[in-house]
Amino acid sequence: MNGKFPQHFLWGGAVAANQVEGAYQADGKGLSTSDLQPQGIFGAITPRMPGDSGIKDVAIDFYHRYPEDIALFAEMGFKCLRTSIAWTRIFPQGDEETPNEAGLAFYDRLFDEMAKYGIQPLITLSHYEMPYGLVKNYGGWGDRRTIAFFERYARTVFERYKHKVKHWLTFNEINMSLHAPFTGVGLPPESDRSAIYQAIHHQLVASAKAVKACHEIVPEGKIGNMLLGGILYPLSCRPEDLLETQRQNRDWLFFGDVQARGYYPAYMQRFFRENGIQVEITNEDRQTLRETIDFISFSYYMSGCVTADPEQYETARGNILDMVPNPHLASSEWGWQIDPIGLRYLLNVLYDRYQKPLFIVENGLGAKDRVEADGSINDDYRINYLNDHLVQVAEAIDDGVEVMGYTSWGPIDLVSASKAEMSKRYGFIHVDRDDAGNGSLERRRKKSFYWYRDVIHSNGASLKDRL
Ligand code: BG6
Repeated sequence: MNGKFPQHFLWGGAVAANQVEGAYQADGKGLSTSDLQPQGIFGAITPRMPGDSGIKDVAIDFYHRYPEDIALFAEMGFKCLRTSIAWTRIFPQGDEETPNEAGLAFYDRLFDEMAKYGIQPLITLSHYEMPYGLVKNYGGWGDRRTIAFFERYARTVFERYKHKVKHWLTFNEINMSLHAPFTGVGLPPESDRSAIYQAIHHQLVASAKAVKACHEIVPEGKIGNMLLGGILYPLSCRPEDLLETQRQNRDWLFFGDVQARGYYPAYMQRFFRENGIQVEITNEDRQTLRETIDFISFSYYMSGCVTADPEQYETARGNILDMVPNPHLASSEWGWQIDPIGLRYLLNVLYDRYQKPLFIVENGLGAKDRVEADGSINDDYRINYLNDHLVQVAEAIDDGVEVMGYTSWGPIDLVSASKAEMSKRYGFIHVDRDDAGNGSLERRRKKSFYWYRDVIHSNGASLKDRL
């Protein structure tokens, strides 16, 4: 693998505020949509009553333990750490005129700690959460006024952290609002498609406004979008399957098309017309959308297949999407199909389509780990998964794809998004906490910790081509 990764490749890991920080009411933080989903994205939406608790309330207590965690990331040689700012720490209800200083001060401390080790922050403005106040009082992203609230929040954090943060992302997995509307756009799960696409439109406009603000306030910075890279293959070479695959890939590529090209792609007109979807798009919106992102970022865990006759097949479940299983691939314990070559393919698809730099900001294996009697955790399955994916990243770089960096998902064990589980572990660092919230929260290095340290130190030269 020698020499394939560029010299300044951003190696690191990715977490999200609501999955690691805990401290869900500390220092003036408001309730977020995530706080109302204690069982995860697919659990019930529950109003918080006094005395209620959920695993995310403490999560892995990153809010208080970040110095220890950053030191461990530095020990692995991280160049970059992706996390998100919890919007509700800055604007607790979402519509305040002035930000919450205590919330801003927390991220100052966090970014300063990272700077001590030369770890660059990659910051998502909104990772699967928004102020619940905006949902309750405005109807979330369904209301156009939310665009201005988001822009105020984005401008506030760009101004505050412009000397500390040079890489930004707007909305995490923005395409997921189609499947998880409460999490993505603050709409009830049963919302109809016109309502969802209208909310998505508002979010796309808000994303473009944030891009413009970032270009003004942090001129030497870079801002990207964030897609769930759910690449789909035709189950067969039947033309009907191929066409259906193209249609379904466009369901998610649509978001990248708007954010990278600055306008709605032609195929959406027919889609909206044939599905009776009405979306109000003003001339001013069209103008705003022209401010495009600097790079494309995405998550990649699995690929899936498409057939024009889905009723004939059992589907495989990812955390959010159902897909037809690929008979050539094995699956994780959670049924996610493992496809390293799919990552090379996806990198090439995205680069061919947009010719913008790409950043893999999530990839990893959720698995149950066993702590041995001597305290060791021998997670060879995780090492193999990550090794094989990184080998394919190297191949894509050799194909000519411009890849800025790779932040594996959950470098430290965290609360899973879909079902709020601790037992689904992604980390190089084990955290002593179970699904019921028991445990000391003690951190422990796994075998993969040393493996990833070597990968980073050798700039990928230690990877092994095993396929
Ligand atoms: C992505 C999300 O969808 O997948 C993360 O951006 C999430 O927030 C990750 O944690 C893995 O999913 P899960 O459900 O295993 O946590």
